[in-house]
Amino acid sequence: MTKLIYIEVSPRKERSHSIAVAEAFLDAYRAANPDHEIDKMDLWDTELPELNMAMIDAKYRLLDLDTLDEREANAWKDVEAVFNRVNSADKIVLSTPMWNFNVPYKLKHLIDIIIQPDLAFAVVEGGYEGLIKGKRAMVIVARGAAYMPPSDFFEVDFQKRYIDFLLSFIGFEDIRALVVEPMLTSPEEQAATRAKLIEEAKAAAAEF
Ligand SMILES: Cc1cc2nc3c(=O)[nH]c(=O)nc-3n(C[C@H](O)[C@H](O)[C@H](O)COP(=O)(O)O)c2cc1C
Repeated sequence: MTKLIYIEVSPRKERSHSIAVAEAFLDAYRAANPDHEIDKMDLWDTELPELNMAMIDAKYRLLDLDTLDEREANAWKDVEAVFNRVNSADKIVLSTPMWNFNVPYKLKHLIDIIIQPDLAFAVVEGGYEGLIKGKRAMVIVARGAAYMPPSDFFEVDFQKRYIDFLLSFIGFEDIRALVVEPMLTSPEEQAATRAKLIEEAKAAAAEF
């Protein structure tokens, strides 16, 4: 069965613009694909392991193309469990706010747990190679200001550009986006931008 994982990052729930757009996308996706499984991972409701010293030792060991000792292998199981939950999906939908020009720390925590050698990427002659092949991603970002070109702020968008880079680093080639911006505006402008993006989300879901 086709499986989609939805990773939700905003804690603002019913006030969140990124979640409102993601929910419109998922409702339309569900209607078009009633037999697909959707796994929702709310990062405010998901206990992620700390990236402890044994995991970090394991990471360096794998980067050195070495094998793990027992302590490292045991710790690595917690990394693999989170990675496997995300990687068991055929498609990924991520909705996230921008916080301080980047992603909220809850998402960075997930990133630091799952972007790992031998799981998300391989160490190869001369560099790294993404291991996640043939999957599709939809990235829904919300931010207070406008960052998309021709905005002067494009260079300080360490949120969407970072996510796009990471996904391509681990092998994704089909990366789509819905950009909800600028949202620190008047209530009327916010409502208009949100409504426009909800329509775009419905159309995007039909093609996802
Ligand atoms: C802790 C925090 C930091 C923020 N930092 C930025 C920022 O650096 N740039 C920006 O444009 N908006 C910033 N914002 C505004 C949010 O990105 C904006 O309100 C967005 O709609 C939040 O997404 P959400 O509605 O899905 O929660 C910040 C908001 C919070 C709560």
